[in-house]
Amino acid sequence: MAHTMVIFGASGDLTSRKLIPALYRLYQRKRLPPETRILGVARSPLSSEDWRSQLAESTASFLQHAFTTESWHAFAQNVFYQPGDIDSQADFAKIVAKLDEIERGNNSARVYYISTMPQLYQRAIEQLGVAGLADDTHAPRRIVIEKPFGTDLASAHGLNEYTQRHFREDQVYRIDHYLGKETVQNILVLRFGNLIFEPLWNRNYVDHVQITVAEEVTVGRRGGYYDGSGVLRDMFQNHLFQLMMVIAMECPARFTADLVRDEKVKVLQAVRAMSSEEIKQHSVRGQYAGYLNENGVESDSQTETFAALKLHVDNWRWKGVPFYLRSGKGMSCRTTQIVVQFREPPHILFGNSQRTKPEGNRLVIQIQPAEGIQLHFESKVPNEDMRLRLSQLDYRFDGHQTGELQDSYQRLLQDAMLGDASLFARSDEVEWAWRIIDPIIENWRGSKAPELHSYPCENWGPHESSQWIERDRRTWFDVCPVIR
Ligand code: BG6
Repeated sequence: MAHTMVIFGASGDLTSRKLIPALYRLYQRKRLPPETRILGVARSPLSSEDWRSQLAESTASFLQHAFTTESWHAFAQNVFYQPGDIDSQADFAKIVAKLDEIERGNNSARVYYISTMPQLYQRAIEQLGVAGLADDTHAPRRIVIEKPFGTDLASAHGLNEYTQRHFREDQVYRIDHYLGKETVQNILVLRFGNLIFEPLWNRNYVDHVQITVAEEVTVGRRGGYYDGSGVLRDMFQNHLFQLMMVIAMECPARFTADLVRDEKVKVLQAVRAMSSEEIKQHSVRGQYAGYLNENGVESDSQTETFAALKLHVDNWRWKGVPFYLRSGKGMSCRTTQIVVQFREPPHILFGNSQRTKPEGNRLVIQIQPAEGIQLHFESKVPNEDMRLRLSQLDYRFDGHQTGELQDSYQRLLQDAMLGDASLFARSDEVEWAWRIIDPIIENWRGSKAPELHSYPCENWGPHESSQWIERDRRTWFDVCPVIR
């Protein structure tokens, strides 16, 4: 069946940096369904030809050597543009007419990709619904909604209700690009495709889990958006929680969208609620030095660019095992890693002049920049008495792969076209995530807010964050990419 991808917000950064390059790569790799057409919609008064030449330039600079003029021309034949204001009835009628024109009356499956300014999400959904474009009696109709999905529980719930007035839940694909990353999917395979990890993956053997998403970049040109958002909304409610869910979830009975998401939601449901005193004890806030001078940032802004949280997942598997989550901008390097720290061995057999006891094993799952895992284990120092040293076993996921690992948008766009929602967030998942984040933000904005610590860029956040975890007799795994 022919497909049409309609991108609302076609002149935005996401479209040129991610969506079009991903669709073009899928085309080159022969992964786009046959006869896929792309229709961009935005307010700028462009022709299809103008838009194509703008996209050719941005795609070439983004993809570098993977871009070839010949394949671009073939791909671009099916790329169209319709200027229009989502708010205007007359413009929307033109969009519908354009769709009919490019589909030439054929029954095509459609994906509506909503990537406008968030204030326009509801309007776009309403226009689609009222115009009957959600009706999938004759061909699939799906809607992909970009983040942010609300700014708190009330707005996310409102957006869910609104969306469900026009689309059934199984037509709705809420995107979190972290779920499209190969290693995130690989965590599921590692855990549920092997026997050796799962028996140890619980409170009896795991001391704690660390999830770090460190970014070297600062807010740059996004100061205006970021200042009203902060790191908890920008990174925790979505990406860090997704990582925590795939680490902590139970094995689903089958690998279907709903059964996978049922298990993920249970993790969020089990996260222990915190009193305001506990929030203070179990969190650290930071702001990088120089943030107040960024464009679009209020001169006395209290917005945090770094946060660390200690969460407990109160269920049989994880009771008593803290999950330490942290993320920040202006950090030492770009790395996303999950550390599963195992307990120390129960009986110390081997003494050591430098180290009196073996450390617990550690599994480091690196999501980026390179994707892979590193296992830390004790081994004997060669030619010495029974002296121990910590050794590493590295595995790079792309080690046996020829060519690049696909970008997360390629995977997610393809899944949306094929109707597989396993790697998209469900309405209840999004709302449970806000239920955890809302009280923390409320506490942080109130009179009892913990101090906002300043930190110099190129650091692992404020040094108070290290002291904070050390009070629990643990240390952050402050290591720039372990797999290169
Ligand atoms: C986005 C955030 O969702 O994720 C950005 O809005 C952040 O602030 C980005 O930089 C990080 O994504 P990635 O894939 O580069 O880790």
